[in-house]
Amino acid sequence: MTKHAPIIAGCDYFLHGGDYNPDQWLDRPEIIDADFRLMRLARCNTFSVGIFAWSVCEPEEGRFEFGWLDRIMDRMAEAGNKVFLATPSGARPPWLSAKYPEVRRVDRHGIRDTYRERQNHCWRSPVYREKVREINRRLAERYAGHPALAAWHISNEYNGDCYCELCKKAFREYLERKFGTLENFNRRCWTSFWSHRYGDWSEIEPDDPCMDAVALEWRRFATEQVCDFMRWEIDAVRQHSQHPVTTNMMGFFQGINYYRIAELCDFIADDRYPGWCDARDFASAASESAMIHDLHRTMAKKPFVLLESTPSNLNWKPFYRLKRPGLHRAEELLAVGHGADAVMYFQFRKGRGGSEKLHGAVVDHEGSENTRVFRDVAEVGEILEKIGEVRGTMTHPEVAVIYDWDSHDALLVSQGPSATEVKKPCETILQHYRAFWELNIPVDVVESTADLSAYKLVAAPMLYMLKPGVAENLRKFVAGGGVLISGYLSGYVNEDNLVFEGGLPGDGLRELFGIRQEELDGLTPDDRQFFRVTAANSLNLTGSHAVRDYAERIHPEGAEVLAEYVRDFYAGEAALTVNAYGQGFAYYQAGRSDLDFLLTFYGKLAKRHGIRRLLTTPAGVHATVREGEGKRYLFVYNFARGSEMFHTALRGRSLIDGSELTKEVVLPRFGSQVYRLEDEDVPERN
Ligand code: GLA
Ligand code: ZN
Repeated sequence: MTKHAPIIAGCDYFLHGGDYNPDQWLDRPEIIDADFRLMRLARCNTFSVGIFAWSVCEPEEGRFEFGWLDRIMDRMAEAGNKVFLATPSGARPPWLSAKYPEVRRVDRHGIRDTYRERQNHCWRSPVYREKVREINRRLAERYAGHPALAAWHISNEYNGDCYCELCKKAFREYLERKFGTLENFNRRCWTSFWSHRYGDWSEIEPDDPCMDAVALEWRRFATEQVCDFMRWEIDAVRQHSQHPVTTNMMGFFQGINYYRIAELCDFIADDRYPGWCDARDFASAASESAMIHDLHRTMAKKPFVLLESTPSNLNWKPFYRLKRPGLHRAEELLAVGHGADAVMYFQFRKGRGGSEKLHGAVVDHEGSENTRVFRDVAEVGEILEKIGEVRGTMTHPEVAVIYDWDSHDALLVSQGPSATEVKKPCETILQHYRAFWELNIPVDVVESTADLSAYKLVAAPMLYMLKPGVAENLRKFVAGGGVLISGYLSGYVNEDNLVFEGGLPGDGLRELFGIRQEELDGLTPDDRQFFRVTAANSLNLTGSHAVRDYAERIHPEGAEVLAEYVRDFYAGEAALTVNAYGQGFAYYQAGRSDLDFLLTFYGKLAKRHGIRRLLTTPAGVHATVREGEGKRYLFVYNFARGSEMFHTALRGRSLIDGSELTKEVVLPRFGSQVYRLEDEDVPERN
């Protein structure tokens, strides 16, 4: 397997750096001098510049001032640094909002916002688009040939809805394009409900919770709006520059289907702030980050950029907890282990004012390199240099977890089956992922329509919506020898959020799983159901396990029953089943279980179906692998409560400190290591 090309052409090293906002310090040249000295000491080589610099670049309408940026770009080039130059549409100057009120967003009640904050422009305002086009075009024209320019950082964390008349009109046009006729729209969106049959497109309101098919379309349209705006921005830049473009995603942010944004990006970039500050269970925060990294590695099937992370504390979480020693290195190496070829921070230097003055940064207000945080960053920079040969390598998992924004949106816009806080599709998938994370089984994170042929096992918990082709995709996967796991609240609705007829799970999944779902029992928080495994079940499972929130009553139609409910009037009925289908197996888990059970369950599945585990480690200790050009690199981390030890038959040497990977490895709390493996072909079998 050859390595992937560097993120920045010609830069065959790990990128390390962050957001740099010299526009806040233009009256302090000595600070900017200090920054360039500190960048070198922190071993930083790449910076995102100009993200919020519009009011400095265009202080008055039509008067542009790029001199300061010329000097910064020149200094970056002299220092050998690269720049992700931002288009500034994320925050606009006051004059723009004052002179053209229509650029400000309108909320769902029809109220237009005042000038404030950022990332809150109307997606459709022709004036805003024109102003953005003009400044983007000028930036591209001016810097396309600059040696420091590496890529375009398009806007910043696009998000949110605008309900102005222009946006609503665009929504109605989108519906008309999609559905063709009102007749078709009325039928597919089930509008006879509560007397909603529409006689004209203009009657359709986006914010009508009883029309959940329309609400789902509004979510899809929100993604469409962002894509359209982003294309507009990219087109402007492309008039003069062919440099790669990207925008910063926000993990599992519920509001944009990032699979669609990914299609517009030359490389994937993400902002990731793990919840260390209020974590009781650091492994849960770490595994959540790992899953998001896996998503981003899988999205474009190549290494990605961790575009923002914090070098120390966050000012927008409930607690201002410091990163404990080792945690910063472990956090950034976790991203690398899961496929990042760049780790960057928000931000390089702390500003003195504004709402982010207390947010962590590489350089503190104190101003020197003599801080713990600065040393942590410099250490990461040094490690990235030492592990340079890992850059461009990939992970090739046998397992995929399905994460589908569209399906989650469909569930979340639907009223019921219970309160939103109970539905938790994202949290549920994270819990399944956590089991693989603990078992050290590498995972890809994919959309439900993805090609599954490369995987041995696919987990699809709570796959509520089956878009056209998804059921067929899953059937084909299992028939060809794949192992599929799904369960409660899966296969309920079609792409229009209409419930399938003829029994659930729909669209033929009933045959695939060999079961019929009859009813769903929603449990109150203080209520538990349990399931007990059946004697001589084919997975050798043992004991009884708790079920929370959801318990479906299902009836086997050919599937083997692996466990039965224990309580209530449906005691003795099937709770966990497996169906042999073609060459493969389809498991159905009817109730929501705890992590403990998932760990056991996936451990047994791995054993039975020959899925490789990299290592067997204590809880909270995690391993992952990157490979390429005949070499394999093992990353290990300790996110448990204390120092931990594990045994391994693998042999290798640390690229960080030269230590040998021995039979017995001890990792301190938050310890992390990167080994180049020596015994190539024999990953451990469980
Ligand atoms: C986001 C933004 C940054 C900054 C950080 C603070 O990721 O993109 O501009 O506000 O949050 O954590
Ligand atoms: Zn609008």
